[in-house]
Amino acid sequence: MGGLTLRRLRANAAVRALAREIDLTSDRFIQPLFVVEGLAAREPVPGLAGVWRDTPASLLAQIEADLAAGVSKFLLFGVPAEKAEHRFDHGYTATQIAAIRAHFGARVWLAIDVCLCSYTTHGHCGVLNDRWDHVENDATVAALADAALAYAQAGADCVAPSDMMDGRVRTIRTALDAAGLDRVAIMSYAAKFHSAFYGPFRLAADSAPARGLPLSDRASYQLDPARPGDARLAAERDASEGADILMVKPGLPYLDVLHDLSEALPHPWAVYQTSGEQAALELVANAGLGDLDRLQLETWTAFRRAGASIVISYAARRARALIKQ
Ligand code: PBG
Ligand code: ZN
Repeated sequence: MGGLTLRRLRANAAVRALAREIDLTSDRFIQPLFVVEGLAAREPVPGLAGVWRDTPASLLAQIEADLAAGVSKFLLFGVPAEKAEHRFDHGYTATQIAAIRAHFGARVWLAIDVCLCSYTTHGHCGVLNDRWDHVENDATVAALADAALAYAQAGADCVAPSDMMDGRVRTIRTALDAAGLDRVAIMSYAAKFHSAFYGPFRLAADSAPARGLPLSDRASYQLDPARPGDARLAAERDASEGADILMVKPGLPYLDVLHDLSEALPHPWAVYQTSGEQAALELVANAGLGDLDRLQLETWTAFRRAGASIVISYAARRARALIKQ
């Protein structure tokens, strides 16, 4: 036959396992959670099977079930009932953090998303100027630092700013350190793109920009998909400002960015398999056009191959079972 013979190492499951370069282990996964004020009972998130807008009580029950399924790391999104334009009340989310910590102690690693889009009347990720045509950077950063401080004081292990303002990491780090919270980590959404893959999330977190505003979308603060150089600059900046973990988001459409940045910076890199990405997999499977388990595992392997240490996935609670099979 001659030539390169590669099939000997694919002949059976045993030798395939030995030859594998990429390992998937369930301890690398983070499960997103939503806790929503004012619900009578928990509600499903459209498009994401098994993902909920939880009440405080159902949230604790969900975490208990997740621990039994092998997930102990979480990214929590708090959604208050009262919206505002300036002074934001972080009490609802802080109360849920404290409840989780009181209930589970060190059995959970708890990261909290830090943004304002679930808190604002208009759904933008920060404080708008008087004409409502742009997000004011420094006023927003100050409000984000207040939120991060409240969450850290309530017992978060990690705060994760997702707003995309300039300088938020430094301001948050300074505020945490000044309060003696130097052990609380920062996971920065460093390379978060202006993406169409956030659909189900915005319903879950009540965070879509309102219609008919002068500022109609998030393009003036989230990264342009056609400017990967911006991701590099943002990642280096966030690292120098004190981010412990860096993130690329979404995942599959930005594997090139994940690969390049994870080679360039030695920090742990997280990838966020966003709600729209997850819904796409489920729609393919539900249409009878693919096997969800295999779709899921293949995407997760791609993230690891591209350099992710950490995978944030709505299906994290299925990871242990899927990887075992
Ligand atoms: C809000 C935020 C978003 C996500 C995480 N934090 C959406 C957005 O920027 O509109 C996306 C998560 C997902 O789609 O799963 N700052
Ligand atoms: Zn936001």
